[in-house]
Amino acid sequence: MRSLVDFDLKDKRVLVRCDFNVPLSKEGEILDDFRIKQALPTIFYLMENKAKIVLMSHLGRPGGKAVEGLKMDPVQVRLMEYLDVSVTKAPDCVGEEIEKWTKKMIPGEILMLENLRFHKGEEEGDKSFAAKLAKMGDVYINDAFGASHRAHASISGVPELLPSGAGLLLQREVEELSALMESPQKPLVAVIGGAKADTKMKVIDRISAVADWVLISGLLDKAIIKENIELKYPGKVVKPVDEARDGKDIGPETIRIFKEKILEAGTVFWNGPFGKIEEEEFSRGTEEIAKAIIKSGSHSVIGGGETVEFVNRIGLLPKFSHVSTGGGAMLEFLSGKELPGIEALK
Ligand code: 3PG
Repeated sequence: MRSLVDFDLKDKRVLVRCDFNVPLSKEGEILDDFRIKQALPTIFYLMENKAKIVLMSHLGRPGGKAVEGLKMDPVQVRLMEYLDVSVTKAPDCVGEEIEKWTKKMIPGEILMLENLRFHKGEEEGDKSFAAKLAKMGDVYINDAFGASHRAHASISGVPELLPSGAGLLLQREVEELSALMESPQKPLVAVIGGAKADTKMKVIDRISAVADWVLISGLLDKAIIKENIELKYPGKVVKPVDEARDGKDIGPETIRIFKEKILEAGTVFWNGPFGKIEEEEFSRGTEEIAKAIIKSGSHSVIGGGETVEFVNRIGLLPKFSHVSTGGGAMLEFLSGKELPGIEALK
């Protein structure tokens, strides 16, 4: 897989697929800009190397038509704040007019294309839509790890048409998540909470083969039994032994046992909450887990929408070694699937 550092990017129009799919309030304000911040190193690199920077992303699920509240404007404004330079926004992501704009750009200039999902062709992975997008750049860089599990036009179509490589964020995600499965500092403790057994079971199965302990939430127990995980990996699965607050949180004995394992870890992987964390009174167990991971001094890799939002809320996000920008993408990567966005760069 080529990286953006392998290209001579000076004076080139570099079309960068980012994942600026950030949560928005009803009023259209960005609730959490973690993904935008994580995209900055690639953009700074391109600025320093005098590229003409064309950014593209989706935002939300507009379903193939323009939706006023899902325009890229809030992202454009936030980028300008962080980059401290002007970012122009195009009224669409394809079309002759915009292609002409890209040709008039000067090195270091930044153009943000409008939401890719305003066109049906994006999610359909339509080849002619990909060809229209490809006209906006000379080189394609994928830095959208969080969207790389989608075989969409901007993810797997454009790299077939332009010289392509991985951005710094995508590279870091792949390195961190590969190292977790292939060469973790032992003991490896996998902490898997939440309830979505269908999306997590493959990851639990795969990580159990390398982990020393797998701490799971009670809501995953049924699926663990059904998939015979404990028979396949004897002695590794650690389940909650008590509950608190009407079963909406884990109990003190569970917290004690979980902490004991976490504090011995060389590496911790964590995804998913251990209580109804939307309400503060049921967040104690999850908060104790977060704090124990930090206290362990282990190499910590965490990810998933709810998990990242939670640690950000309690101010601990910068304390983890690697916080993945991927929710679904991270789980699919860890379950061993080739992500279309990464496959396309090979
Ligand atoms: C995400 O938020 O997981 C990615 O941006 C992909 O978005 P999607 O689930 O709407 O395809």
